[in-house]
Amino acid sequence: MTAASSAPRPRRFAANGSLRGAIDVPGDKSISHRALMLSALAVGESRVIGLLEGEDVLSTAAAMRAMGAQIERQTGGEWRIHGVGIGGLLQPEAALDMGNSGTSTRLLMGLVASHGITACFIGDASLSRRPMGRVIEPLSAMGAAFTASPGANTSQTLPLMLRGAAPAVPIEYRLPVASAQVKSAVLLAGLNTPGITTVIEPIATRDHSERMLAGFGAELTVEQEGGARVIRIRGEAELRPQTIVVPGDPSSAAFFIVAALIVPGSDVTIRNVGLNPTRAGLIGVLKDMGGSIEFLAAREVGGEPVADLRVQHSALRGIAVDPALAPSMIDEFPVLFVAAALASGTTTTTGLDELRVKESDRLAAMCAALTLAGARVTETADGLIIEGSGGEPLQGTPEGTKVATHLDHRIAMSMAVAGLASRDGVGIDDCRPIATSFPVFEALLAQLAGA
Ligand code: S3P
Repeated sequence: MTAASSAPRPRRFAANGSLRGAIDVPGDKSISHRALMLSALAVGESRVIGLLEGEDVLSTAAAMRAMGAQIERQTGGEWRIHGVGIGGLLQPEAALDMGNSGTSTRLLMGLVASHGITACFIGDASLSRRPMGRVIEPLSAMGAAFTASPGANTSQTLPLMLRGAAPAVPIEYRLPVASAQVKSAVLLAGLNTPGITTVIEPIATRDHSERMLAGFGAELTVEQEGGARVIRIRGEAELRPQTIVVPGDPSSAAFFIVAALIVPGSDVTIRNVGLNPTRAGLIGVLKDMGGSIEFLAAREVGGEPVADLRVQHSALRGIAVDPALAPSMIDEFPVLFVAAALASGTTTTTGLDELRVKESDRLAAMCAALTLAGARVTETADGLIIEGSGGEPLQGTPEGTKVATHLDHRIAMSMAVAGLASRDGVGIDDCRPIATSFPVFEALLAQLAGA
């Protein structure tokens, strides 16, 4: 069931003592999407252990099934996928419903673009506002044809119809925006394109696609050239089925890291957190703010660095966040803003234009939400400036008022965390979107509060 198909679920989150104990966060969302897509293109049976069973990833699974892959969950939670082979995707009979998931949409557009099939992509109200021109542009250059809906500000949006090219044309594409989704869309299109498809990435973004494509046996190279990352993939490859163990999602862990830092008396261990350097920016920033975060049992899981994190309540100091770190913590800014609201002094963030085109406009949404909860926040064109409370709890939202989450899971979870460090609690208009990425968030919160 997607958020759009049921009634809103409002909830008030209030202070409830310290958070204590140990939790496991579910599998990484980015890696889970890619594990399903590449397994569905391999010849033979792949196994995925620790797949995130959130709505976004289930949208990817449903789409890959609609294009011919067999995907089944075993009792015990392991997933088995029989792939169709590169070039073997079938034309879906109905529109592919991407729900709230931008990653499913953009990466699958890449896959369809180099297959001789036509697919219609639809999504919820949030996804239908998000810009698709950023993937339509390179995929059109590869030969795919699009009919998109006209969005606001001359952007192209869902619903859209995509007719793939067979064969597609290899391109060399320099990313105009730091986006792992755009990079991955072009690389995935390159999988079924004769010759070599090249993506030039002036600013590094999460590299899960590159790691996993190489793991499945694709011919892929990554080189540093003139200060940029240059990724080349040879098409018409054959992918070999794999067993993938998905590490815990650092973007989900982020909510509990910040919660433990700002709720007095807290001492929380979060097990199995993925620490790929292209994702781990938040941890360094929180440590620079004075956060006590210890790495325990550092190891490798599924080709990704992982550790258990012990986080204790800390007096945080505001800082100026280096905009160069943005790609490595792009999904973590909403909850960083909450940490900043409880710090002493001013936190300044810049270079965050991309936050305006996520599941919501996260700069506007967090400015409004934190302000309603009593924080002192100024919105600029490309960031927020936050005057922290110096560790004093926020007032919370006035009785009967609720922050607007705009169908954005990360706004809902960030403001839930803010509620834990407030006098009166924080009302949230709708908690349904939490299920897109972190269905057990509220259960884990209850577990730590009761421990
Ligand atoms: C993702 C890339 C990021 C991120 C999203 C997941 C991915 O989006 O915000 O949650 O899995 O590739 P952009 O590529 O738009 O920055």
